[in-house]
Amino acid sequence: MSQQPAEPTTANAPATPISTLKDRQTSPKRRSAATTAVRTGIESDQEHGAVVPPLYLSSNFAFNGFDDKRPYDYTRSGNPTRDLLGEAISELEGGAGAVITSSGMSAVYLVTHLLAADDLVLAPHDCYGGCYRLLENLAKQNKLRLKFCDFSDTDAAREEIRRSRPQLVWLETPSNPLLRVSDISALSEAAREVNSLVVADNTFLSPALQQPLALGADIVVHSTTKYLNGHSDVVGGAVVAKTPELHEQLTWWANCIGVTGAPFDSFLTLRGIRTLKVRVAQHESNARRLVDLLSSHGAVSRVYYPGLTSHPGHAVARRQQNGFGGMISFELRGGVGEVTEFLRSLELFSLAESLGGVESLVAHPATMTHAAMSEAAQREAGIEPTLVRLSVGIEDADDLVSDVQAALDAALEISLDAPLQSEARAVSG
Ligand SMILES: Cc1ncc(COP(=O)(O)O)c(C=O)c1O
Repeated sequence: MSQQPAEPTTANAPATPISTLKDRQTSPKRRSAATTAVRTGIESDQEHGAVVPPLYLSSNFAFNGFDDKRPYDYTRSGNPTRDLLGEAISELEGGAGAVITSSGMSAVYLVTHLLAADDLVLAPHDCYGGCYRLLENLAKQNKLRLKFCDFSDTDAAREEIRRSRPQLVWLETPSNPLLRVSDISALSEAAREVNSLVVADNTFLSPALQQPLALGADIVVHSTTKYLNGHSDVVGGAVVAKTPELHEQLTWWANCIGVTGAPFDSFLTLRGIRTLKVRVAQHESNARRLVDLLSSHGAVSRVYYPGLTSHPGHAVARRQQNGFGGMISFELRGGVGEVTEFLRSLELFSLAESLGGVESLVAHPATMTHAAMSEAAQREAGIEPTLVRLSVGIEDADDLVSDVQAALDAALEISLDAPLQSEARAVSG
């Protein structure tokens, strides 16, 4: 693990947040996450009493005078709007502080700056394709050493942590796209025994449904592009640290390499976070309706959803999550023909990458989100060509159910026709 940068970390340390001082003054009570999400920065404007915090787009801030800097000087280092978002996400995750980054991938990249060249990263073999690509290529450049592991098998993963003694254990739970669940507490405990840092990518659930720091992780990473912003109009990321020391290191590196997020993006994401709890509840209740449909339809051979009692990670998910979320993956019977017909027949699911927005999306991981993985790596991770992933939106549940029902019926018709067509070919041949 690399040392704390020797240069002055305080020079560009985060400025005192403008924050919800008023709220805190009137009531020092610890509030629920839903209240924090709604209230961060509300009525913090001292100048005009604006209820919603103002957006500070300025790239720079004037000094009071010679050698007399105010809390902010330059937006790459610190910005009031971005700091409010960091404060909100940190509180939601129960951290000591958060760094807001320009994307989920820059959040991941930022964390790798805590490593020294020889340090070993143990990462999930089925992590998000972009993380896989970044870690693999950093390893090729000898910037770190890398080993992949199936973290959904707790005993084997614990053994692997003890055997390989990594400096960093990277968890993504539930994983993308197969929704495998890793036991954060058990794996964090094993990591602690060998002095390893644990990072958990909490993008798929958001802090509304899972808080990895309370389960033993040291750092939480988010693509805020997804549920935290929730409206598919910002690409952003966040790194939440459990301790002030880690937060300071991450803040230093974020400023140094220039990956901090833009103020306008922060403003929109903070607005999105205010409705996080109600959105996530609706995503999940719609997802449950679709899981019921998928589980009983003849066009589907397998459904991956941690809320199903048959899911291998169900017990762990029940224990460490407050809900099962709005993501579902499933396998269609047949092949590319069925997949094409299913995707073509959907009317309410946009065929697009990303997830966690209010609108429903469908993706084909093998050719879209996970195309960065080789065919062999996909096979190893269990990503089949017939795998389909749904990000269930918050539209009316009945409308979503009839849309998916119609598309599944269309896919099933193709499968039933296929033997007839091959018979016909055999006869005419
Ligand atoms: C689990 C997970 N982590 C990280 C990322 C990267 O985030 P971004 O696209 O915001 O860079 C993604 C993107 O899909 C993701 O699904």
